[in-house]
Amino acid sequence: MCGIFAYTGNKGKNASTVLLDGLLSLEYRGYDSAGMYLPESGSVRSTGAVSMLRKKVPKNFKGHSGIAHLRWATHGEPTEKNAHPHQDCSGNVWVVHNGIIENFKELKVGLEANGHTFRSDSDTEVIAHLVEEHLKKTKDFEKAALKALREIRGTYGIALQYKKEPEMVIGARMGSPVVLGLGEGEHFIASDPSPILPHTRTVVFLEDGEVAVITPKKHTIHKLAGDPVKRKATRIDWSAEESQKGGYEHFMLKEIMEGPEVLQNTVRGRLLPDKGLAKLGGLESVTKQLARINRIIIVGCGTAYYAGLVGEYMLEEHVGIPVEVELGSEFRYRKPVINDRTIVLAISQSGETADTLEAIREAKRRGALALGIVNTVSSTIARTTDAGVYNHAGPEIGVASTKAFISQMTALALLTLFLGRQRASATPEQASASRRREMSVVEGRDIAHALQELPQKMQTILDNRKAIEKLAIKYAKSRDFLYIGRKYNYPIAFEGALKLKEISYIHAEGCGAGEMKHGSLAMIDEHFPTMAIVPADSVYDKMLSNIQQIKARKGPVIALASEGDTEVGKIADDVIYVPHTIEMLMPILNIIPLQLFAYYFAREKGLNVDRPRNLAKSVTVE
Ligand code: G6P
Repeated sequence: MCGIFAYTGNKGKNASTVLLDGLLSLEYRGYDSAGMYLPESGSVRSTGAVSMLRKKVPKNFKGHSGIAHLRWATHGEPTEKNAHPHQDCSGNVWVVHNGIIENFKELKVGLEANGHTFRSDSDTEVIAHLVEEHLKKTKDFEKAALKALREIRGTYGIALQYKKEPEMVIGARMGSPVVLGLGEGEHFIASDPSPILPHTRTVVFLEDGEVAVITPKKHTIHKLAGDPVKRKATRIDWSAEESQKGGYEHFMLKEIMEGPEVLQNTVRGRLLPDKGLAKLGGLESVTKQLARINRIIIVGCGTAYYAGLVGEYMLEEHVGIPVEVELGSEFRYRKPVINDRTIVLAISQSGETADTLEAIREAKRRGALALGIVNTVSSTIARTTDAGVYNHAGPEIGVASTKAFISQMTALALLTLFLGRQRASATPEQASASRRREMSVVEGRDIAHALQELPQKMQTILDNRKAIEKLAIKYAKSRDFLYIGRKYNYPIAFEGALKLKEISYIHAEGCGAGEMKHGSLAMIDEHFPTMAIVPADSVYDKMLSNIQQIKARKGPVIALASEGDTEVGKIADDVIYVPHTIEMLMPILNIIPLQLFAYYFAREKGLNVDRPRNLAKSVTVE
């Protein structure tokens, strides 16, 4: 999730100062490098935070307009070379971009054939060259930009500048937010209103497929096809901080609400639904090794560990490969039996968790193929592993992981599809060595189609969040909570309990529903509620009898059930209904109500949900 910011004005302000100050308020979106371009002074870029960029800006770096960017790497390492703004061959067209250009490889090949030379590994750079290409035919920057935008596929929030039209900035939106700021004698383009608010509170939000042109005096909006758009301006009453949170009270809620978008971003460009295949570019370099593996060990900490447990069920059931899941902190001190047919897969949002990193180093020392499911591009774990899959969830600010967990499980589902269908292309010798089960095309298609339907289903859960809020308030005086589930939802019981304990500080524990009778059941009485995850899956009947066992001890029960279930409401005190999906993907939907429940529960207690006491977002010490 990068941040873009652009300015043009005739009020005597120095664009360089406006842009640098604005970038600071976008830093919450994550950063690994930053940069800006002023037609009157040139460009400056730097790795690291805005403060690093500020140090590199020359004294005479001045102008009336410019574009700026904070990068959170997706394509290409977070180096100065890959930092935005990117330019065309002539150094006249400059672009900053938030999003992913899906067809950049095809476009790049075509442009290179036409003589364009690329300076970076970034997908964004094609935009500048495409505009340059069109400027050869039309001298009109606006027309050339429109033509270029019509050729790109993917998601973008963009700001473009042309040295020969220094007063003009062109902005465009497709899937990534873009807002215009309308001041007197000055206009702005940004990823969210926070950098604009110190200058003006009058803004216009662009919609997908819209292009805006700003000069100091004027702004116009068009559809990509060219039709003009009339949109009323909005007055923003939020503070800059509220606007960083997208108008939500906390980052945690904002990040839970981003779930459907995160799902799309993790899956984007990686599914061939009709062939029932997953395409994981990050694993291409190790495809041959993957065809002969016969064991997977997943390592992670906290939420990432629970994602790994979900992955264990997915991979064993659909790929038929033995999987173990280990806490990073335990694995590193064991003497694991590993050989060159073992994968050790690290799951980590930050890519910096010390225990997970050491586990991966240990695995490599013992000859395993080390893979990663990592959210932070070029983090230490991403660099230490041999290959991997990036989550593309965007930076997560709330300490309690929510959207990263969604993307971790989604990446595991993609990996399941990838490995499950891979055997078809492996040699018979490799196939028999790995003793894996072959996933049929039909099964592959079912998984791919179900994955595509998840964002919409997740959105319906989020739209009904009021009901979950009410329940959380009803139970907010509880001092203990048990979470139970089975099979795919066994890890979800643990993750649900983890969410509640880490932000509300009450005792919450997860338990395999079948294991309850061996201990946890002793705690149950009328003051000890249970969250039972009981979707319409292969262990539904077993879960119903576990709920009966709790009710027999007068324990209050909230059931998390599938829409259309008419049974569970007869025994549970409260029911949260969730749309149906295939069994292996149920955890991805079921965790959403549990994240919301924990959020509203802690908020009701007046706690700082984004920064719970004693915990850190990234644990880089042992
Ligand atoms: C900390 C965070 C958790 C996270 C865990 C692992 O405990 O608070 O939210 O799940 O670290 O972090 P990682 O970055 O490796 O996923």
